[in-house]
Amino acid sequence: MPSAKGSRPPSVAIPPRLGVLISGRGSNLQSIISAIADRRLDARIAAVVSNRADAPGLEHARAAGIETIHLNPRDYPTRDAYDQAIASALIACGVSLVCLAGFMRLVGRPLLDAFPNRILNIHPSLLPSFPGLDAQRQALEHGVRVTGVTVHLVTAGLDDGPIVLQTAVRVLEGDTAETLAERILVEEHRIYPEAIQIVLAGHWTIAGRRFVRGR
Ligand code: GRF
Repeated sequence: MPSAKGSRPPSVAIPPRLGVLISGRGSNLQSIISAIADRRLDARIAAVVSNRADAPGLEHARAAGIETIHLNPRDYPTRDAYDQAIASALIACGVSLVCLAGFMRLVGRPLLDAFPNRILNIHPSLLPSFPGLDAQRQALEHGVRVTGVTVHLVTAGLDDGPIVLQTAVRVLEGDTAETLAERILVEEHRIYPEAIQIVLAGHWTIAGRRFVRGR
């Protein structure tokens, strides 16, 4: 019999725990769930938080057996109190990285301070072009030939913060906001899990506005 002395249990790496914040459809949430299932992303989703009880994306979470948390902003006296409640819920779930996936609220100080440089967002344009709502329509109406997707760290500014990954999508003759959004979404689903993996892997620093890899 092998002696117990000196033998070690095999080391089991504990995957980092993600908190995903949604408000609606949840297709990016689903892309993260799929990337984890396919082992393209070494993480687990500890909780999905929604500001809306009827967000269809919550079904993706439930179907994958992920804890869902609905926090209604109306139950809190101030924006800060609401953001603090989200931060507390995420901390209680042991979350180390927060991913906004169609979360339609500005992130305030309590949440930013609880997760410094640990909140990611995905935006359907090549930032800093076309921040805010309806980015695909803004791009179309501006007449750009190329738009795309940005994954960035979240700061206090709207769709601001160091850029982790971007990818371009061509605007085609005859595109509508809907057809353009569809092609952009395909790229969103591809690069969000990739960007999350990059951030989780470490070896990066922030230099001014820049997300610098390799150190
Ligand atoms: C996506 O286009 C994302 O880039 C933006 O909001 C949309 C959310 O879509 N921030 P879904 O809920 O992930 O399907």
